[in-house]
Amino acid sequence: MTLIKKIIENAQEGNYAFGMFNTSNLEVTQAIARAAEEKNMPVLIGITESAVEYAGFLPIVNMVKAVIEESSADLVMHLDHGKNSEFVKKCIDAGFESVMIDASRLDFEKNIEVTKDIVDYAHERGVVVQAELGKIAKLDLSVESGVTLAKMEKTDPDELEEFVNRTGADTVAVIVGNIHGMYEAEGNPHLDLDLLQILRERVSTPFILHGGSGTPSEDVIRGIKECGIVSVNIDTEVRIAFVTALNDFFVSGQMVIDPRKVLSIARDAVQKKVGDKISLFGSL
Ligand code: G3H
Ligand code: ZN
Repeated sequence: MTLIKKIIENAQEGNYAFGMFNTSNLEVTQAIARAAEEKNMPVLIGITESAVEYAGFLPIVNMVKAVIEESSADLVMHLDHGKNSEFVKKCIDAGFESVMIDASRLDFEKNIEVTKDIVDYAHERGVVVQAELGKIAKLDLSVESGVTLAKMEKTDPDELEEFVNRTGADTVAVIVGNIHGMYEAEGNPHLDLDLLQILRERVSTPFILHGGSGTPSEDVIRGIKECGIVSVNIDTEVRIAFVTALNDFFVSGQMVIDPRKVLSIARDAVQKKVGDKISLFGSL
């Protein structure tokens, strides 16, 4: 059994969740690995297509692989929100143990078709596939008031059952009020736990919670304990921890010549943030 399969199985049996944290640079990747070591918990390190655009395919993939290889923690390189099938297959060929095919922007039938094609390709190679059903909304952090960039469509229970049966996806990202990004001033979104419970009763497939940043902790814990969420995705809170640490440093008026002096402060801040999340999701 591959490491990722074991990690999912353990989380299901133990009724806890592991974190998936996004990275696009060395310092954040190291911070995630160090937090996982410190907390002795498994973690997924997520690479997106935009992280690849930023860093380059081989640089980021080989960097993440190297950090995982050197770490004593159970870490898995994961493709997050893979939207292009050819790209997802390239990642599978490059050694990702876990991939997400996100065809949620397509209609139901097309989502099934695209997802099933990736599931077949991945399973022949022992790779685990996460799919998405429903449409997640996204908040635009660049504007004063939180503007929702995409309209949310919650996961439909009937569709979920059919989707899981026809695609054979290993895990499903469900949309139950969760939103990408966070905007505290407008009140962070609560999860629709009643819907999540209904979804849980329809299928036994493990659920993934996207948009974990800013989601009230009590909702996340109930989703994990009562509704079969095995993994929570966090990106925005990691970015904020990194950038806030850099900002605080420069605002304090200090100057450095060596970038490592300030980047290591940001790395420590991310480690703390990731460690806190790991503890929350893994609390028994
Ligand atoms: O796939 C990544 C996430 O769903 C992250 O969402 O930025 O709200 O933490 P977030
Ligand atoms: Zn997401």
